[in-house]
Amino acid sequence: MRRERGAAREADAGILSDFEDNDRRAAVRSSIFGHTLSRVRPAGARVGGGDGSARNPCASPKSMLQMDAMRFGIFSDTHGNLEALNAVLEGLRHEKVDSLYCLGDTVGYGGSPNECCEIVRKVARGTILGNHDAAVAGRMDYSYYYDAARHALDVHARAISAENMAWLKSLPYDLRLPDHDLLLCHGSPVRLEEFEYIFAPEQARDCLPILDRLEHLTLIGHSHLCKVFALTPTSVEELPPQSFDLERNKKYVVSVGSVGQPRDFDNRASFVVFDSVAKRFEFKRAEYDVELSHERVLKLDLEKNFAQRLFLGV
Ligand SMILES: [Fe+2]
Repeated sequence: MRRERGAAREADAGILSDFEDNDRRAAVRSSIFGHTLSRVRPAGARVGGGDGSARNPCASPKSMLQMDAMRFGIFSDTHGNLEALNAVLEGLRHEKVDSLYCLGDTVGYGGSPNECCEIVRKVARGTILGNHDAAVAGRMDYSYYYDAARHALDVHARAISAENMAWLKSLPYDLRLPDHDLLLCHGSPVRLEEFEYIFAPEQARDCLPILDRLEHLTLIGHSHLCKVFALTPTSVEELPPQSFDLERNKKYVVSVGSVGQPRDFDNRASFVVFDSVAKRFEFKRAEYDVELSHERVLKLDLEKNFAQRLFLGV
């Protein structure tokens, strides 16, 4: 059900005010996700779960086992869409994830670049550099981008705070979490700084020469599409963009879709959940107040199409 605009505005204000004090970061995480987010830890490490069992000396073996669960909430391509980002965070709150990661492109196209940077910077355990982030941060030549996209990047560069600009300048091209069989990047992992797309089997095939360097699951953004490719040393198979259990003898490259500008004709925000213990990957969608996001794009005097396409999910 679509959120009422007034309620959405109140929720935005609440979330933003939650994030205003950096010293309350841990408490904010706790309040957002219903339990304290732990540092990424080696598989098998015993840490507290959200059920309070870590403080319970009588915790059963079963509950101790559950504490080992590692659920990752991952999203990408927020593109300055505050309403979509808030809807995704709300969805992830219900998913009881342990840790959040962002695959980049927090800025570009949308009406709330600074607000989105502020939130992602504070809730995500790690964030990858996207091509729009690189452009805004002066880390990439974007003079060849088409006029409207270039204009939005220029506007965004002026709109974000010094802290958020410093954050964009510091973002890595990839993050590897070997204890969880997870590699995160924005575009293709083959040539990270080129931000190449992977949305077709021929593009996924380029990963075969570096298959040994990929983790069991490689998550990417960039195309704004939900795509799944299963790789063996000699084959690439495109699977339906549905939740799946990872097979031991295959590696997977998955494009997680976009929070703020989906392009698969579904205007709901995309995000994913990966359980690194159960080896279960799930696609998720969240409805949000598209009209309000549309208004914010126009208010920032960006290309009208950036606002209108949100209704269509293209
Ligand atoms: Fe993007």
